[in-house]
Amino acid sequence: MIFTGILSYRGYRYLWWSLGLSTFAVLLFASQYASDTARGNTWQGYTLGSIAGTGVLWLGYLGVRKRRYAAGGAPMLGWSSAHVYLGLAVFLVATLHSVAHLSFTIHGMTYLLLTVVIISGIVGVYLYLTCPRATADNRQGVSRAQLFAELLDLDRRARELARRCDPRVAAAVRSAVERTVIGGGALAQLTGADRSLFLDPDRPGPAGEPTLASNAEQRAITEFVSSRIPRGDKRAEVATLQQLLPILFRRQAVLRRIRRDIQLQSFLEFWLYVHVPLSVGLIAALLTHVVSVFLYW
Ligand code: HEM
Ligand code: HEM
Repeated sequence: MIFTGILSYRGYRYLWWSLGLSTFAVLLFASQYASDTARGNTWQGYTLGSIAGTGVLWLGYLGVRKRRYAAGGAPMLGWSSAHVYLGLAVFLVATLHSVAHLSFTIHGMTYLLLTVVIISGIVGVYLYLTCPRATADNRQGVSRAQLFAELLDLDRRARELARRCDPRVAAAVRSAVERTVIGGGALAQLTGADRSLFLDPDRPGPAGEPTLASNAEQRAITEFVSSRIPRGDKRAEVATLQQLLPILFRRQAVLRRIRRDIQLQSFLEFWLYVHVPLSVGLIAALLTHVVSVFLYW
């Protein structure tokens, strides 16, 4: 989805709606002091609670609305803009309704969940505003598929050149290509951690065979091949290593961009896994809160 303009949609239309709703809520809240003490169970408290409750259900409805692309009505960008601004107003309305009476009860729990959903929402706005631009900058006009295609080509060229080198260099380069790790679990994607390995000839095992070592960021293999250039015995081998090194550096740069691309996408995916279940929890707590105040009041 195109997110540019989510905040400024139609001349900040929903910011004005949200400010209007907030002003109404503050006036309603203030009117309680003329008669009674401020509480959730005055008629003003009920009105504020009902607005907040309806608001939460409506905000949750976005999840359903987003999956009905064929539905008519306002465009998705408008829905998202309204979601953000009215979501913030709902927080104020709920705070005035509960008068911030926080306790370890289902009521306090409802308020706490609302707060967490709102905070996660603000983080989401930040991510939706920054990640697409960061992704475009990182890709530099190239798609992820094209980056992978370039990587495969570099892999093939690196293997071919390695075959012409000393067997130790050949084994090291081949293993670096084969043991390059991209992506992985949720944590690896989010942190961009690199668990790539290679067979390091400079770290011999008990029988003198090369052992596995970290090749994070392809640093170890590039260092190993560079260190071999001054030590090359034959002129032909030195020339091959000199051809191989820029390919390894290019591979390093492409891999870095692919990993960053995956990381930026994972931020948005992971964020939804936080915001949506929390809002489902909030709706469940809200329904329990309403049922319990009507049962025990
Ligand atoms: C997001 C929506 C809502 C939140 C976060 C919320 C939260 C709270 C909190 C924290 C309290 C204070 C409890 C206490 O003093 O221990 C409260 C009180 C109350 N809420 Fe809500 N509430 C919401 C929606 C509603 C709705 C939709 C209704 C019913 C229409 C409602 C009815 C009440 C009533 C009657 C009280 C007063 C209970 C009493 O003082 O005995 N609330 N609410
Ligand atoms: C009670 C409050 C809220 C509830 C129940 C709620 C619920 C939801 C749901 C169900 C979605 C749809 C996710 C999907 O299925 O793709 C969503 C998306 C989103 N929410 Fe909230 N949300 C709330 C408050 C907020 C607030 C206050 C903000 C920002 C300040 C916010 C920011 C976002 C953003 C940026 C998206 C993704 C944009 C989009 O798909 O339109 N949310 N929220």
